[in-house]
Amino acid sequence: MNYKNKNILITGGLGFIGSNTAKSLVKLGANVTIVDSLIPQYGGNLFNINELRENIEINICDIRDPHAMKYLVKEKDYIFNLAGQTSHMDSMKDPQTDLDINASAQLSILESCRLNNPDTKIVFASTRQLYGKPDYLPVDEKHPIRPVDVNGINKLAGEWYHLLYNNVYGIKACALRLTNTYGPGMRVKDARQTFLGIWIRLLLEGKPIQVFGDGKQLRDFNYVDDCVNALLLAGANDIANGKVYNLGSKEVVGLKTLAELLTNLDYGGSFELIPFPTERKAIDIGDYYSDFSLIAEELGWMPKIALEEGLRRTIEFYSKNSSEYWEDSL
Ligand SMILES: NC(=O)c1ccc[n+]([C@@H]2O[C@H](COP(=O)([O-])OP(=O)(O)OC[C@H]3O[C@@H](n4cnc5c(N)ncnc54)[C@H](O)[C@@H]3O)[C@@H](O)[C@H]2O)c1
Repeated sequence: MNYKNKNILITGGLGFIGSNTAKSLVKLGANVTIVDSLIPQYGGNLFNINELRENIEINICDIRDPHAMKYLVKEKDYIFNLAGQTSHMDSMKDPQTDLDINASAQLSILESCRLNNPDTKIVFASTRQLYGKPDYLPVDEKHPIRPVDVNGINKLAGEWYHLLYNNVYGIKACALRLTNTYGPGMRVKDARQTFLGIWIRLLLEGKPIQVFGDGKQLRDFNYVDDCVNALLLAGANDIANGKVYNLGSKEVVGLKTLAELLTNLDYGGSFELIPFPTERKAIDIGDYYSDFSLIAEELGWMPKIALEEGLRRTIEFYSKNSSEYWEDSL
């Protein structure tokens, strides 16, 4: 992967996956520019790039601003397009904002590229949420698309704008359908984003983790370094252009087992099973884990960090840095 001296734009670069992508790219010698709006309820946090401040350019602006994006996409060799409204519940309460960020702004970024930088390569962070409740497991890329929430529909539109611009205008673009990703830098303040975030906070605060239902729902998880590696491979390989790839893990666990794993990591903690809240049950997808053999075969990607090791690294990070991620911290 030759990113040395390449000009890179990371949208959503102050967020969880974006900031970890920035760290890897700086290590590889790339010139990194970040664009992020730092909308308070979302996952952006300046502490995420604390160690990089001298090495990157940061633009605090909104991807919904086409004038700013026109300027920012210019002369970039690669764009890692990770900015998004990521809360499924928020997408149901405020569908228009989700549409504006996850669909309209994506189209506008692609238009900016078509008009101002048609030679760039874009990697889009899509989601497994767009499959909905699986018909079969593991879910491969041929599985029917049946989103169960507004976020899934808008992310699908965002994904397909990228493929369309690849196919019609020759702007090199591809998408990765991420599964649950976790690690240092994720939003742990509340239950707005992934459940694993709030679990980690509760554990460190000595409060019981709440597992919905019987805790038997199956999931697969990727540690953030593995996810970043997939993004970089997709960026560097032209065989990925015009394609979508699932990410996933061979380690498939029930949520109760995951809670047991977390509470056995030397940081204490406990968990309880509670009835599924109605509004969450309505958009729950049941069991999910993915077939990621396509990206393994075509790009040679394989997740490397075992779940227990990844959870250990994550908890260790938040036990040291809690004050940067939630206010009334330890
Ligand atoms: N983390 C996961 O498990 C997961 C799973 C599937 C897909 N994804 C996708 O990966 C991408 C990154 O997710 P993440 O977990 O790092 O989330 P995150 O919330 O930590 O990062 C997203 C970043 O985008 C920024 N952003 C949001 N709206 C913006 C706007 N209008 N203008 C500029 N910046 C804006 C936020 O401030 C935030 O920093 C998202 O597109 C998400 O849909 C993540």
